[in-house]
Amino acid sequence: MKIAILGFGSVGRGIARIVAERETGLVITAVADSKSGCIDNNGLNPLEVIRAKEETGLCGKKGVTPEYIIKNADYDALVEVTPTNAETGEPSLGFIKLALSTGKHVVTSNKGPVALNYDELSHIAREKEVQFKYEATVCGAIPIIQTLQYGLAGNKVKKLYGVFNGTCNYILTRMADERLTYKQALLEARELGYAEADPKYDVEGIDAAIKLVILANTIFGMKKRLEDVEITGICSLTSEAIELAEADELTIRLIGEIDNERGTLRVSPRVIPKDHTLVVQDTLNAVTIETDLAGEVTLIGRGAGSIETASAIISDLSFISNCHDRSS
Ligand code: HSE
Repeated sequence: MKIAILGFGSVGRGIARIVAERETGLVITAVADSKSGCIDNNGLNPLEVIRAKEETGLCGKKGVTPEYIIKNADYDALVEVTPTNAETGEPSLGFIKLALSTGKHVVTSNKGPVALNYDELSHIAREKEVQFKYEATVCGAIPIIQTLQYGLAGNKVKKLYGVFNGTCNYILTRMADERLTYKQALLEARELGYAEADPKYDVEGIDAAIKLVILANTIFGMKKRLEDVEITGICSLTSEAIELAEADELTIRLIGEIDNERGTLRVSPRVIPKDHTLVVQDTLNAVTIETDLAGEVTLIGRGAGSIETASAIISDLSFISNCHDRSS
């Protein structure tokens, strides 16, 4: 299957690395970032595009824009991994609509368009008989969308709660274990590529809230906006507060919760026992799903990172490729 990648930051490069290093059945025919792009309909060499980006800051020629690639490259699925804009979803929203409207599958890690416009996008996908997949938008490598859509199909989900932001979890872990200040820990998380392009999304709890909105709207059929989520972030947490909790065998985690029975969404720091299932370390995410038939199911895995997020994208692409093979 041929893919075009829009966005060549940490996630885009992770996908290219996986395609270069293992037999995925995927061929990359086009790549674009915000300043440049390249197309080879016979297949680009992913490692050469990564090298160009890392050495020059550009992945191809200036003037080869995402729109040009969407309209002119030869590809089956658009991989849209540009940075998130939670207010408008743009420019990603426009890229996704354009690709779906021209009959291409779309796989994205971009939370803005999914949180804001899922109904419209999935409607276009159904009309054009293509797939619109977004596993990478929530909890990185954890297959939470697949678990809720397929694995737990037939269950009624009463509640779902846990750690949805790897950057905050990393900061809280480093503050507790290494006595780093909030600023030092945030700097580390940014340097390691976990944080959003604008890290205020992470530390103000917005990123976790967007993930809740995505699950609420796409899995539970709610009609939530970011404004409907009660949000408190971790920016004003002090090292002293964490030390006080630790002295009592407690710790602090940023917890997101969907109460599906009440229809409420909430993100806030909570003090919990250190041996609680949801007290995971570093960039791990952990989500407990309370259901009527299966009881409690908890998923734990890497919620952020280049290869980890790329894993979810590759999983969506494999799903599409398998459906495609079966129907042809
Ligand atoms: N910045 C996000 C996080 C990336 O730290 O969880 C994955 O969505």
